[in-house]
Amino acid sequence: MKREDVRNIAIIAHVDHGKTTLVDELLKQSGVFRANQEVQERVMDSNDIERERGITILSKNTAVYYKNTKINIIDTPGHADFGGEVERVLKMVNGVILVVDAFEGAMPQTKFVLKKALELNLDVICCINKVDREEARPNEVIDEVLELLMELDANDKQLDCPFIFASAKAGWAARSLDDERVNMVPLFETILDYIPAPEGDPEKPTQVLISTIDYNEYVGRIGVGKVDNGSLKVNQEVALVNAHDPDKFKKVKISKLYEFDGLNKVEVNEAQIGSIVAISGIADIHIGDTLCSPEHPEPIPFQKISEPTLSMNFIVNDSPFAGQEGKYVTSRHLRDRLFRELNTDVSLRVEETESADMFKVCGRGELHLSVLIENMRREGYEFAVSKAEVLYKEDENGKKLEPMELVYVDVPDEFSGAVIEKLSMRKGELLNMNPSGTGYTRLEFSIPSRGLIGYRDEFMTDTKGNGILNQLFDGYGPYKGDIQYRTMGSLIAFETGEAVAYGLFNAQERGLLFIGPGERVYSGMVVGQNPKNLDIEVNVCKRKQLTNTRASGSDDALKLTPPKVMSLEQALEFIDTDELLEVTPEHLRIRKKILD
Ligand code: GTP
Repeated sequence: MKREDVRNIAIIAHVDHGKTTLVDELLKQSGVFRANQEVQERVMDSNDIERERGITILSKNTAVYYKNTKINIIDTPGHADFGGEVERVLKMVNGVILVVDAFEGAMPQTKFVLKKALELNLDVICCINKVDREEARPNEVIDEVLELLMELDANDKQLDCPFIFASAKAGWAARSLDDERVNMVPLFETILDYIPAPEGDPEKPTQVLISTIDYNEYVGRIGVGKVDNGSLKVNQEVALVNAHDPDKFKKVKISKLYEFDGLNKVEVNEAQIGSIVAISGIADIHIGDTLCSPEHPEPIPFQKISEPTLSMNFIVNDSPFAGQEGKYVTSRHLRDRLFRELNTDVSLRVEETESADMFKVCGRGELHLSVLIENMRREGYEFAVSKAEVLYKEDENGKKLEPMELVYVDVPDEFSGAVIEKLSMRKGELLNMNPSGTGYTRLEFSIPSRGLIGYRDEFMTDTKGNGILNQLFDGYGPYKGDIQYRTMGSLIAFETGEAVAYGLFNAQERGLLFIGPGERVYSGMVVGQNPKNLDIEVNVCKRKQLTNTRASGSDDALKLTPPKVMSLEQALEFIDTDELLEVTPEHLRIRKKILD
């Protein structure tokens, strides 16, 4: 049976191409907001950090109505670090809207999500957004997208992808560039015409695959999924079955059932085939569980959730809750907060350590964890974090494996040399290099995940802020050997009592020169013998007093990378707090690992 009154779609877009703005506009025009109700800007990204960083992290469900049809819209995360999530939401839909910036064109990230969508046989509507931009080149972008679709079309099915031109910001969509630019109706119509209605068998036993988990303080865990077969009713008894462990299941009663309406969940008594539903009241509902009829506990097959590849320690450091006098962050606070995060973020793992004050937090890449850290700091939690480390594995022969990434870089031609040099030092292998002919070069690398730790800031400096870097997890591969970051003279940073300074450490010279704020020069020399674990003594003096130090070898290098001041957080990327042996404003001793 087809549910002609429902369409389920996901939105795929590269970061900043306008996904959120587009959904906001569909919501507004579908009449979700009453005229006198203030429309909050960017309604989809409800989380502050998401808003600030402009990266959609958690999938959100929205439903809009057009001509008596309910269109469920599912937001997909825009960043590969949270990749596992994309695949799960695509399982709920019959089609996708690919949003592409009319100037920037299709970006590599989109490519992978799109490939997944095509593999699942989903229909694609391409929405060329930001057509209002002065530099927009919509016709060229269409050619690029067609080329991309041809390249990706794994099943060789004839792709007839409709193109819609839009300015989400101005609130219009059009089927051709010559059409009148009035409202979003052309996009609504295309969705209804082109995206198939969800199908299923209402006579079959119930099957609802849980694709995402929401969490709410009052009702606890909320499973979200689509009714694939049968129906779901309040008070119905169901079996909770996981395809990866089908023999172990438990029976539960559905107490609360919701569907989406605008941005809200509304309680319903029954949900039919094709409906996207939310279920609360089941404490141990998990992603990948299928709610089945107890007589036929047949789970729907489900892709395993992508594993964490990187860890950081979160450490209690006797700090007060920010802005809350007299209230200190204890290990219990930190623990509770971290474990609460697990309710909604399934790619995250939290482990206790020997120390009650320290938790090992594992996630999908640096960005994933840094978003969590920022979120928590904003909520008032003050704590220390260690440097990120990758999670190694072993193959069946006991050989060491490490997580690998594919890296796509777009840089102005003149910076490609610097990027290749830096990434090669970090064990990156250049796979492809394509000058676009417009002053930009696209570089493609395969690189161990650990090679990218701390690289983004360097990249921004090296490309004067004009580079774009995207990474994509590429599975585990054989360990690539030590990365000798610091042998050629590399950036390290530290904090003295008064300031954070950074500089170049030149291992050959065994000398060290830092220039901090206020013309202060931090000079030092290596005093240890073990090349892997050197003691470095640093003395602080005024710039003009710097004569005859062993740091002269680094001077040239310093000219290449002008001094700047880092925040303590950035500095921590380069130095662990436990490496600091002694700190006074005049004297600082650190033990620095020279080789990774
Ligand atoms: P993520 O949430 O980070 O994935 O980004 P997004 O794809 O949701 O993009 P978002 O809607 O946040 O838009 C990014 C920026 O582009 C914002 O500054 C928008 O105002 C702007 N923008 C969105 N649509 C348009 C448009 O049609 N024209 C122009 N000129 N700007 C737009």
